[in-house]
Amino acid sequence: MRVPFVAGNWKLNKTPTEAVELALELRRLVSSVRGVEIAIAPTAVCIVPVAKKLEESNVKVAAQNVFWESGGAYTGELSAAMLKDAGAEYVIIGHSERRTYFGETDETVAKRVRAALDADLKVIVCIGETLPQRDSGKFLDVVGSQLIGGLAKVAADEAAELVIAYEPVWAIGTGRTASPEQAQEVHAYIRGKLVERFDAQTAAAIRIQYGGSVKGSNAAELMSQPDIDGALVGGASLEANSFADIIRASRPQ
Ligand code: 13P
Repeated sequence: MRVPFVAGNWKLNKTPTEAVELALELRRLVSSVRGVEIAIAPTAVCIVPVAKKLEESNVKVAAQNVFWESGGAYTGELSAAMLKDAGAEYVIIGHSERRTYFGETDETVAKRVRAALDADLKVIVCIGETLPQRDSGKFLDVVGSQLIGGLAKVAADEAAELVIAYEPVWAIGTGRTASPEQAQEVHAYIRGKLVERFDAQTAAAIRIQYGGSVKGSNAAELMSQPDIDGALVGGASLEANSFADIIRASRPQ
């Protein structure tokens, strides 16, 4: 049985002061929720204060990116060991915004995934097609090659703890959610690719989150699909009540 995993990607939002406030409010709202793994991904400067406020709670902390080198002359970058020591348990890798605005490729995703796993950080690997790619009918190929490319340096015996986030780019921040059937089609395809890449038992253990305009009102229907194991939430995670609604809607039925 896969435990649903709901993560909030705060992107470039919230100062450290605001982040601590939001984290504390969320901690209070979801303290009694069972059966769902919960994480928030504030900006890197907020990881230390937020992680301190979430100690001994059921809300974990994720980073939004990681560099693949462990140290040295790389001005402005952060290593996996630094993020882990700061309090992150997870790291989001390969988000479409990083692919679009910062030149992220499947190769750089693979290097970041390797570095994260080597530092005992768990990874949320993001994949998803653009609207032209969906309209061309080739979206499964696009998603499949992002998946295989991004996981190029992962061994089968460390794959069960991977988290994959399927985020169709046309559904991110647009208010346009993939229908549960559209999402399930891609999630099932991803699961099949994971069987080929690793093995059936490992693929059955890997959580596949859906992301793209998830709200309290559509979360339960998305989660009811057999291969949707949680959500990666942007806008609706910036407000404690709306994120808590999604978390509650994601509890196993
Ligand atoms: P929205 O929930 O704002 O559409 O963002 C999704 C996302 O990109 C999460 O990583």
